[in-house]
Amino acid sequence: MKKKVVLVTGATGYLGGRLCRELFNAGHHVKAFVRRTSDLSYLPPPTDGGSSGGTFELVFGDVTDYQSLLQACSGCHVIFHAAALVEPWLPDPSRFISVNVSGLKNMLQAYKEAGTIEKIVYTSSFFALGPTDGYVADETQIHSGKFFCTEYEKSKAVADKVALDAASEGMPIVPVYPGVIYGPGKVTAGNVVARMLIERFNGRLPGYIGQANDRFSFSHVDDVVDGHIAAMDKGKPGERYLLTGENASFKEVFDIAAMVTQTKRPSFGIPLLIIEAYGWISVLFSKLTGKLPLISPPTVCVLRHQWTYSCDKAKSELDYHPRSLKEGLKLEPLIEG
Ligand SMILES: NC(=O)c1ccc[n+]([C@@H]2O[C@H](COP(=O)([O-])OP(=O)(O)OC[C@H]3O[C@@H](n4cnc5c(N)ncnc54)[C@H](OP(=O)(O)O)[C@@H]3O)[C@@H](O)[C@H]2O)c1
Repeated sequence: MKKKVVLVTGATGYLGGRLCRELFNAGHHVKAFVRRTSDLSYLPPPTDGGSSGGTFELVFGDVTDYQSLLQACSGCHVIFHAAALVEPWLPDPSRFISVNVSGLKNMLQAYKEAGTIEKIVYTSSFFALGPTDGYVADETQIHSGKFFCTEYEKSKAVADKVALDAASEGMPIVPVYPGVIYGPGKVTAGNVVARMLIERFNGRLPGYIGQANDRFSFSHVDDVVDGHIAAMDKGKPGERYLLTGENASFKEVFDIAAMVTQTKRPSFGIPLLIIEAYGWISVLFSKLTGKLPLISPPTVCVLRHQWTYSCDKAKSELDYHPRSLKEGLKLEPLIEG
């Protein structure tokens, strides 16, 4: 396999950090795009050569700063664009568009100017396709755009259109759509399952959240990493690939977590109206303290819908093999560090 120079944005994130390690271990020259303020603790130390032959470098910038992106793209063959604001709620919602949409537009502009890039693997999200109430969707689903639970969902749907338009203009972009990502790694805004389980085992979330028929597609982080690398190697530009996994409810996740840890299952479900009230209070608190809430009213809207997808296309074209929730939750501790 030819070793490539790859740029990873969102490298200090839950997904991006593990992607960097895997690319480095596979012998690529990895340029991790990080901010001056980023926590670098989960990244490998910069090196000129690991045992795999891989090299690792930090490049500083911000996806909203075009010049920093252009500089980072210099000499790169592949871009993994995973940087995003992944919160369900922010006090200033316009930031979702500036980071998640304008950041992607900057990346596409940098692609044109850099002249060396062969492929861009863009990390979209199941949210970009929209809810699937009562059925299982595939890559043919386009977000209706009529209603969004969260500003994050809206930004990912708008960015999806930007990515697909770029592909139709001939840019070599491969959008991939993970489900709810879980598994070991950094506890960030994106690591929702670990954050929920921390609340659960700390006793702050005493009951089930959501309803048994609220279903999501759960993707193990290492399967999503493999799917990204397969998209680099085999993904067809302009083709969308769902990197989703087992479709299940949060209730099932809590039950499996109880089984794995040999602890008691919750004995009741918390009604969504109570969670919503808690969400409003959390948002008020957040305005006072500046600390972002785990649960906010938009999260409750998400819990009121179903988000179930089929990853058959990725299975057949990318050799994507998502593990079951049971396998994924028992392999390693979910919370590292
Ligand atoms: N987590 C999920 O369940 C999930 C599901 C589907 C899709 N996705 C997608 O997967 C990608 C990665 O998500 P994640 O869970 O790894 O999120 P995360 O842990 O919250 O990481 C987000 C990353 O984006 C970076 N970032 C944010 N704003 C930036 C800016 N202005 N300039 C440069 N970098 C910036 C962050 O840098 P700092 O460290 O400096 O903050 C961080 O490295 C995202 O595109 C997300 O939409 C995630």
